[in-house]
Amino acid sequence: MCGIFGIVTNKQQPLGSILTDAARRLTYRGYDSVGAATISDDGTIDLRKDVGRVDDVAAKYNFAEMSGRRGITQLRWATFGEPSQINAQPHLDSDGDMVGAHNGNVVNNVELRQQFIAEGMTVRSQNDGETCVHAVERYVNKGYDIIDAIRLAYGDLAGDYAFVIGRVNDDRLYAFKKGSGLVVGIGELPAAGNPGGSTFTCVSSDLPSILPLTRKIVRIQDGEIVTLWPDHVEVRSVKDGKCINREPEIVTETMDAVQKGGYPHFMLKEIHEQPQVAREVLHLLEGSRDVETMLNKMKSARHLYFIGCGTSYHACLAGAVFFAQLAGRAVIPVLAPQFVPQYAPAVSHEDVGLFVSQSGETKDVLNALQIAEQRGMTCFGLANVIGSTLTKSTACWLPLCCGYEISVPATKTFTNQIVTFLYLAYRMAGRDTRELEKIPELMGQTLEETAPQIAAIAGEINRWNDLYCLGYGANYAIALEGALKLKEITYAHCEGMLSTEFKHGPLSAVSKGYPVIFVAPPEDVPLIVSGINEVTCRGGRAIAIGEADSSLSANASDMIVIPKSNPAINPLLAVLPLQLLSYHMSVARGYDPDFPRNLSKTLTVD
Ligand code: AGP
Repeated sequence: MCGIFGIVTNKQQPLGSILTDAARRLTYRGYDSVGAATISDDGTIDLRKDVGRVDDVAAKYNFAEMSGRRGITQLRWATFGEPSQINAQPHLDSDGDMVGAHNGNVVNNVELRQQFIAEGMTVRSQNDGETCVHAVERYVNKGYDIIDAIRLAYGDLAGDYAFVIGRVNDDRLYAFKKGSGLVVGIGELPAAGNPGGSTFTCVSSDLPSILPLTRKIVRIQDGEIVTLWPDHVEVRSVKDGKCINREPEIVTETMDAVQKGGYPHFMLKEIHEQPQVAREVLHLLEGSRDVETMLNKMKSARHLYFIGCGTSYHACLAGAVFFAQLAGRAVIPVLAPQFVPQYAPAVSHEDVGLFVSQSGETKDVLNALQIAEQRGMTCFGLANVIGSTLTKSTACWLPLCCGYEISVPATKTFTNQIVTFLYLAYRMAGRDTRELEKIPELMGQTLEETAPQIAAIAGEINRWNDLYCLGYGANYAIALEGALKLKEITYAHCEGMLSTEFKHGPLSAVSKGYPVIFVAPPEDVPLIVSGINEVTCRGGRAIAIGEADSSLSANASDMIVIPKSNPAINPLLAVLPLQLLSYHMSVARGYDPDFPRNLSKTLTVD
C-alpha cells in the first residue's frame, strides 16, 4: 500500500530531511520504492527516486540537500508496473512543470495511458501515479484553471486513491481523494536551523507521517479537493467546486495507536480493513487485462491446479469449489510441497497452475513453481507483495491489493484471495460480476453484527485447549482456515475438518461443554443439523455460524447469524466471525495475536 506526504512552507528552505522523516513514518505500510520532489521559487522541480529502503535511497540520492518551498514524498507498493526507478513516484507531467504522487490504485490506468499517448503527452512509466498527473495536465493544457482541471481529472480516474500535485510558479499544493485516506496538517516548523521558523501545511495518506509535525489536522472526504497554502487550507467539493467549511481538529492519540488505526492490534485493524480492500481488489480485477489472459489459458487447460500453503492453500480449496460449482470446471487444489511428488511428474505444457501466496516468497511455493516451470506448465501467480519472487517468476500474476499485512495471521489477504477466486469463477462462468459488488458492504455488516456475540463466546469457551471447526463444500476451506487462525494465535489445538467426517472418529472427543464450531450455509443446514445433534446429545457445545435459520437456532447451542447473501458469497462472510473469535481468545489468554510465538510472516525456508 503506497503512502504520500506533501508539504507547503512560507519560504524557500531545506525540505529534504522533513520529507525523508515523513517517508520513514510511512514505512509501516510496506513499500518497494521511495521518491521525493521539491519545487523551488526559481521555478525548478528537483525529483529524486528509486527502488529501495528509505534510508538507502535518501543517502544514495542525497535527499538531505533538497530544498524548496514545497515538497512531496511517496513510498510505492507496486501494483501497476514492476518496482523500478521509472515507475517510482513522484512523477512529472509532459513538460516537467508539474509533479505529483498518489497512493491506491487507478483501475483504468492502462486505458488512460493510451489516451494520453494518443493526445501527445509524454508518458514515461507504467505507473498509475503518473496517470493522475497527466489526468490533470490534460485539462490544464486545454486552458482550465487548476481546480477545474482537477475536478475533471477526478471524473476520469476510476479506482480508490489519494493524490497530491504541485506545479512551478504556483505557491500551493493540491490534493484530492476517492476511497483512500487523506489528512491535512497545519502548524509551524521549529525555529532551530530555520531562522525565524516558518508556517506550513501538509497532507498525507497517513496520520502518523503528520503527527510529529503537528496535531492540528483536517480530514478530507471522498469527492473533496484541498488546496494547501503555507498558513491555511481550503476544501472544495469536486461536484460543484464550491468551498466547504471544515474546522481543524486536534488529535490526541499516540503514534502507536494511530499506526494501528486506533485498534489495539494490527490484526484487528486488518480484520476491519477487509471490506475496503475487497472493494479495491474488485475494482482492480474489473480493469485487469491479465484476468483475460489467465482465463483464456485456464479454459483450454488439460488440468488446472491451485497451489499454495497454509491460509493461501485454504483459499485454493475454496477457489476449486467455486470453479466447479459456478463454472463447471474441475480444479485440483494442492498444498505446494505435495504438488512436487503427486502432480509435478505428470504435468506438461497443456496444464495451468495458479500459485497463490501472500508474501510471494514462501519457499514451498517457489519450489513447486520451479519444478512446474521445468515441466513446461503455464504458471500464473496471485500475490500480495508485488515485486516478490512469485510475481517476477510467473508469466502473468494478479495483485491482492491489500497493502502491507503486518499481523502474522493472514486475514485480509485471505479474503481477497477468496474474492479473486470468486471473481475468476464468475468470469469463467460468464456470470455478471456486478453481483460481487455487494461483498464489501456485507462484510462490514457481518463484522459489526457478530462482534459483540463473538467476544462473549470467546470468553465462555476460552478454558478449552482442544476444539473443532467443521464445514462442507467451500465452507470446508473456511473451517480449515478458522481452525488455523485459532491454532496460530491461541496455541490451543483446533482441528478443521469436513463436517461429515466428524462422526467417523473425532466424535469420541466430545464431553460436557466441548466446543465444536459448525460453519453452516443454508444449503448444508439439513446435513449440519444432524452433526450438531451428534455433538449436543453428548453434552458438547455446538456453535453454528450461518444465516438466520430456525432449524439451526433450535438445534445449536449458540447461533452466530451472518447476513443473508448469495451462496457463493457466504463463505467470505462466515470466515469473519472465526477471525474475530481467534483474536478475542488470543487476547484473553494474554498473547499478542500480531506476533504469535514460533511463527514468521514469510517462510523462506524448506
Ligand atoms: C496464515 O495465517 C499463516 N501465517 C500461514 O499459514 C501462511 O498463510 C503460509 O505460511 C503461506 O504464506 P504465503 O501466503 O505468504 O505463501
